Amino acid sequence: MKVKILNHPLINLYMTILRSKDTKSAKFRFLARKISSLMAFEIFKDLKVLPKIVETPLEKYYGVTLSDPKPCIISILRAGLIMSEGITDIFDEVSIGHIGIYRDEKTLKPVNYIKKLPSNLKNRQCYLCDPMLATGGSAIYAINTLKDHFASDIKLICLLASDPGIKNVQTNFPEVEIICAQKDDKLNEDGFILPGLGDAGDRIFET
Ligand code: PRP
Repeated sequence: MKVKILNHPLINLYMTILRSKDTKSAKFRFLARKISSLMAFEIFKDLKVLPKIVETPLEKYYGVTLSDPKPCIISILRAGLIMSEGITDIFDEVSIGHIGIYRDEKTLKPVNYIKKLPSNLKNRQCYLCDPMLATGGSAIYAINTLKDHFASDIKLICLLASDPGIKNVQTNFPEVEIICAQKDDKLNEDGFILPGLGDAGDRIFET
C-alpha cells in the first residue's frame, strides 16, 4: 500500500491543537504551516539528486546537488496554499503550481476555477498538497489535471486523510503515494472527515 501516515509525536501534538474548535485562525495557520514543514523531511525522502564534488577548505567532499528539472509543489486552492508555504519554508528550490477547486456543497463534486501549472511536468517530481482528503473527489480531479499535463511522478500530501478518501484515490491511481500527517476512519453525510478538524479553508482564512 502506497500510504504513509506520519503519526510522529510532535506532529500528533500539533494536530491535536489544530483539530480543537477552540484554536483560532492565526494559530491554526501557524500550526498547519509548521506541520507541513515537519512533513517535508518525509516528503522529500526520495528527492532526485546527482553527485557533486565540492572543495572544503581541507579537501574534496563528495556531496549531492539537485537534479534537473527541479521538483514541483502544486497547491489545491485554497487550503493547499498553507502547505506549500510550510514545505517551501524548508526547501524552496521548487516550481509552484496552483489548481483551484471547491467542493459543491450539495453534490460534493469538485468544481475547478483556476489552473496555473509550470511547464514540463513530464520529468518532474510532483507534490500535490491539500490539507484534507475527504471523499477524494478534489484530489482525483487534481491528479487527472496533472496527468493531462503529462506528470507521472505524483505524491499526494495531506494533513488529514479519511479512509474512504484514501481508498478512492488508491483505486483510481494505485501508483500515487499518499503521505499524510494523520488519518481518520470516516466521513459524515456532508462529506466532512470525522472527527476531523472542520473546514480547513474556512479555518485558515477565517471565512
Ligand atoms: C476542502 C479541502 C479539499 C476538499 C476535500 O476544500 O481543502 O480541497 O474540500 O474534499 P474531497 O476530498 O471530498 O474533495 P473546499 O471545497 O472546502 O475548498 P477551500 O479549500 O476553498 O475551502
